[in-house]
Amino acid sequence: MLGNFSYCNPTKLYFGEGSLKYLKGELAKYGKNVVLVYGGGSIKKNGIYDAVIEILKECGKDVAEIAGVMPNPTLEKLYEGMEIARAHKADFLLAVGGGSVCDYTKALAVSVHCDEDPWEKYYLRFDEPTCEVVPLGCVLTMVGTGSEMNAGAVITNREQKLKIGHVFADESVMPRFSVLDPTYTLTLPHYQMVAGIYDIFNHICEQYFSGTDDNTSDYLAEGLMRSLIHSSRIANKDMQNYEARSNIMWTATWALNTLIACGKDTDWEVHMLGQAVGALTDATHGMTLAAVSLPYYRHIMPYGLEKFVRFAKNVWDVNGEGKTDEEIANEGLAKMEAWMKELGLVMNITELGANEGMLDELVKATLVMEGGYKVLSKEEMREIFRESL
Ligand code: NZQ
Ligand code: ZN
Repeated sequence: MLGNFSYCNPTKLYFGEGSLKYLKGELAKYGKNVVLVYGGGSIKKNGIYDAVIEILKECGKDVAEIAGVMPNPTLEKLYEGMEIARAHKADFLLAVGGGSVCDYTKALAVSVHCDEDPWEKYYLRFDEPTCEVVPLGCVLTMVGTGSEMNAGAVITNREQKLKIGHVFADESVMPRFSVLDPTYTLTLPHYQMVAGIYDIFNHICEQYFSGTDDNTSDYLAEGLMRSLIHSSRIANKDMQNYEARSNIMWTATWALNTLIACGKDTDWEVHMLGQAVGALTDATHGMTLAAVSLPYYRHIMPYGLEKFVRFAKNVWDVNGEGKTDEEIANEGLAKMEAWMKELGLVMNITELGANEGMLDELVKATLVMEGGYKVLSKEEMREIFRESL
């Protein structure tokens, strides 16, 4: 471990079936005016909405609602929510949903009392909040992003065709608490479940594929990947398997709550490529990552060969005997590809609505990261997108 770091994670977690009962005690810590934030209606179908409303009533809260937060939440929706939260004089924001709802609520938390335009301030200039941040909590219903225990908030600006994530340094942007009940995820469609699983896997990869030092974070990352691969295979065949789904939920949280980034540079270029696809097509986040990953990793493999050999051996159990490093690394990626196909992930961006005519726009929308094994040129990005078609 050669890098220096500070580590603090203030989010309290309530994990397991029935954990919603702890919501009451948490809500008691905050003022009367609560804004309940949720998505397109899944929580009304599966009963989570009713259960949460009952608790809010029992706590005597005055509740305003922001409904219809879409996957890949937009800036327009953020402006709309700011009006509602301001009019309600929000003391607390309660997110009930997946990463989109949690991210949106964080963006809202830093925008309610902000007198500048939040897009300019937080997403173009990447400033930290200088105003009061409204406290928030999450009840998670979709697994993947890690938003339940981090300070990330991704917002899409449809007009500018940009999808940008800001990981705030200010810990007050993180949820004060998150309720993680794996049974809440059992109503997810298969498509969303596997997209979330790949999102988790890629979060781990983004942090793992950087640096050359011996780092505890990499051993933790390998353990998380092995657990995820194991549980994903069970859940893929038996979506109602609580043990597998609970392991996946827990892995998702630890994959992106800053722990395995400790002492690491971290890459995040797959997310930048995927977010560009998302900005132009509005496709499901995890699928955008799946569609660009293999062309990207095959491209950077020669620059980080040692780590790709380790990945093949320690994550995919590749036997290295009598093989060159390139052969071992390629075998690891081939095993990863087979697993991705087994889950039924989308393996190309064409299926997500992208086409050759969008290549220039895709490259333009992709931010360049510098922590991985190869800093991509615009030409390399274009090639990776072309190979992902
Ligand atoms: O809107 P509803 O009706 O609730 O339906 C949602 C949505 O259509 C549905 N869903 C959620 N829980 C369900 C359910 N359907 C049935 N039963 C349930 N229990 O699932 C769909 C997808 O939900 P969404 O919240 O969009 O998915 P996800 O959790 O993958 O979040 C994606 C967003 O998070 C951002 C992504 O860019 C994207 O905007 N990310 C946030 C990160 C962070 N905060 O650190 C990191 C990630 O890399 C990611 O970028
Ligand atoms: Zn992600």
